[in-house]
Amino acid sequence: MRPRVLSGMRPTGALHLGHYHGALKNWVKLQHDHDCFFFVADWHALTTHYEDREVIEKTVYDMVIDWIAAGLDPETATIFIQSRLPEHAELFTLLAMGTPLAWLERMPTYKDQIEKLKDKDLATYGFLGYPLLQAADILIYRAAYVPVGEDQAPHVEITREVARRFNHLYGRAANHDEQIAASLAKLSKDDARYVIKQRKAYGQDGSLEALSRGEAVVKRAREADLIDNNDTELLLGHLKGSGKSVLTEPSVLLTETSKLPGLDGDKMSKSRGNTIAMRDEPAAVAQKIKRMPTDPQRVRRNDAGDPTRCPVWQFHQVYSDAATKDWVVQGCTTAGIGCLDCKQPVIDAIVREQQPWRERAEPYLSNPKEIHRIVEMGTERARKVARETMKDVREAMGLNY
Ligand code: TRP
Ligand code: SF4
Repeated sequence: MRPRVLSGMRPTGALHLGHYHGALKNWVKLQHDHDCFFFVADWHALTTHYEDREVIEKTVYDMVIDWIAAGLDPETATIFIQSRLPEHAELFTLLAMGTPLAWLERMPTYKDQIEKLKDKDLATYGFLGYPLLQAADILIYRAAYVPVGEDQAPHVEITREVARRFNHLYGRAANHDEQIAASLAKLSKDDARYVIKQRKAYGQDGSLEALSRGEAVVKRAREADLIDNNDTELLLGHLKGSGKSVLTEPSVLLTETSKLPGLDGDKMSKSRGNTIAMRDEPAAVAQKIKRMPTDPQRVRRNDAGDPTRCPVWQFHQVYSDAATKDWVVQGCTTAGIGCLDCKQPVIDAIVREQQPWRERAEPYLSNPKEIHRIVEMGTERARKVARETMKDVREAMGLNY
């Protein structure tokens, strides 16, 4: 079985080259040897865009087309929309009951974003809950890995904490305490007392020696046939302070930050208006690159320039081979080439990169029903997994009356 990967993107506009080089390229790579679940996080988009839902509505299916254009194979990867799966909301609600407010208030993204998006009122219940909704997204598929950028790493960390807490609170059978007592009773009195003592030491100080001393006693009792496999598992779990794990703690798969800046040299982002969309027409690409600012000290054609002061050079870092880069450095520093000459290979490379994207997107643009079908198929696949987890969660929480 391939390890499960899950990630999501908020539908807040057409995807651009920053999304491709910062996330999507990595998703495409992962799909080959992982069981990938990728979804449109439309509820997450609403936490910040609750006043302009039109953007979201317009972008949802376009974004999925961008994903497929980039090379995601909807047969291999499971592609779906968050809001089509109310199970996410159910898990979110259930997790919310026991999640300390302080965990959410302490999220670095919380205060940062409120500060950054000053034009929006983000003092909302939904926005505070953003990371917990994300935890529900991840935990409901029992994902092993979550590929995200560095900014999202704290959200994966809180997901781990939420899972641990859930397993601690509910990951045990109703008669768990009696079961433990019965298993302990099969040990010698001294050993039972010893195990209880080591458990306490591990629980209080996290002493790993105490844990392994306790485990050694349990394993010896198993070898001496005093206890069976079931007792052993119970006691080993008891030592760690955990019960059965209902929810899986995911690991973050840090995606390298994209080396591609925006057209102005700042981070590429829609709000800065410095993007090239994945499916911009070649003419638009050429025009945008031609208008890019260059080394501010290279005012006239005859002035020598310095590529390290120029955002076009950063594009060459991503798109050009060694020979082209040598040509740029040589030509720029000696005023041997003009900036438009310098930009041409970048234009060509981007248009070439986009070519297969345009081809793969075309059938969906001319037949929108097909993209709906694909999302439908992914949503049903996701629903099967989400339902199974929710069954276990409800049972663990004693909600299966
Ligand atoms: N918060 C993520 C972002 O802004 C999107 C997201 C929502 C997500 N749920 C997720 C990512 C679950 C990974 C896993 O990029
Ligand atoms: Fe920038 Fe190229 Fe012009 Fe030099 S020649 S300033 S690297 S665009």
